[in-house]
Amino acid sequence: MKEQILQLEREVREAPVGNAQELEAYRIKYLSRKGLIPELFEELKKVPADQKREVGQALNQLKNLAEGRLKELTASLEGSTNGQAQKLDLTLPVNQYAIGNQHPISLTRYRIIQIFERLGFNVSDGPEIETDWYNFTALNFPENHPAREMQDTFFIEKNPDVLLRTHTSNVQIRLLEKQKPPVRSIMPGRVYRNEAISARAHCFFHQVEGLYVDRNVGFADLKQTLYHFAKEMFGADTKIRLRPSYFPFTEPSAEIDISCFICHGKGCNVCKHSGWVEIAGSGMVHPNVLKNSGVDPQEFTGFAFGMGIERITMLRYGINDLRLFSENDVRFLRQFKPVM
Ligand code: DAH
Repeated sequence: MKEQILQLEREVREAPVGNAQELEAYRIKYLSRKGLIPELFEELKKVPADQKREVGQALNQLKNLAEGRLKELTASLEGSTNGQAQKLDLTLPVNQYAIGNQHPISLTRYRIIQIFERLGFNVSDGPEIETDWYNFTALNFPENHPAREMQDTFFIEKNPDVLLRTHTSNVQIRLLEKQKPPVRSIMPGRVYRNEAISARAHCFFHQVEGLYVDRNVGFADLKQTLYHFAKEMFGADTKIRLRPSYFPFTEPSAEIDISCFICHGKGCNVCKHSGWVEIAGSGMVHPNVLKNSGVDPQEFTGFAFGMGIERITMLRYGINDLRLFSENDVRFLRQFKPVM
């Protein structure tokens, strides 16, 4: 019995207690009604009479020790939480919330919108699920014309007339149907193509369409508008170059190149050593397109352009793989801040 008491004394003094749960376990183990110390008091009855006094005293000491430590621990655990409350300094700055940031595609889209809004363009929207008429036929793509092949997309079997739009040019038609010229609008959005996914192509991407239809809109307006855009977007010393091209919905048509803002014409990987980088397709709106949207081509003319947002974003930030935009890797996405 004496030995047991000595053993428990050591335990009671040294048992590690670091939190409220451990404290309660401590109380139950040693001091509760069925705890080890009350158990010893039970056994005291069996101790021979001549030893009872001595053992009883030792047992009482043990009990006092355990109760004392319990009190101490209770006080110090409470104290430490109180202590924290007392140390709380309300004047300290709060921890910064991680609020995330905008996707690089959004940053570029906002910048493009900002530049054109200052020229008096508004922003229009159109459907991504489109009919053949708005995506192709109204835009003067003849049936079975090879230009349709260049923009293969996703159709549904039930109704081959319904497809995912291959470009934002569909919004040109929808806009002109609704609104009499003058129309000055840009139309950002997602588009789809049936392409194998690689660093340079994806089955979906983003474009911004531009349309300006009014009396006496000429090719010079197209050129000046896109020249202004290029300087705002890529820097004041940017030059543009127009290359003859073909689109069914414009005549004449031109591809817009900007002077390479990386090597300034000396030749580098970005411009493939040509000094020029392609950024948009453009042209004067084809009379058939105006007719198909209910606009009289004798009275009104217009220009249009379309550019890929991914492409411009890759140029702006020096990104070399298109897939990064849709993989949602935060290590990539966290890096982007607006470039003005
Ligand atoms: N829709 C064309 C494409 O996706 C781009 C384009 C070219 C749009 C010329 C235009 C334009 O409005 O005038 O390849």
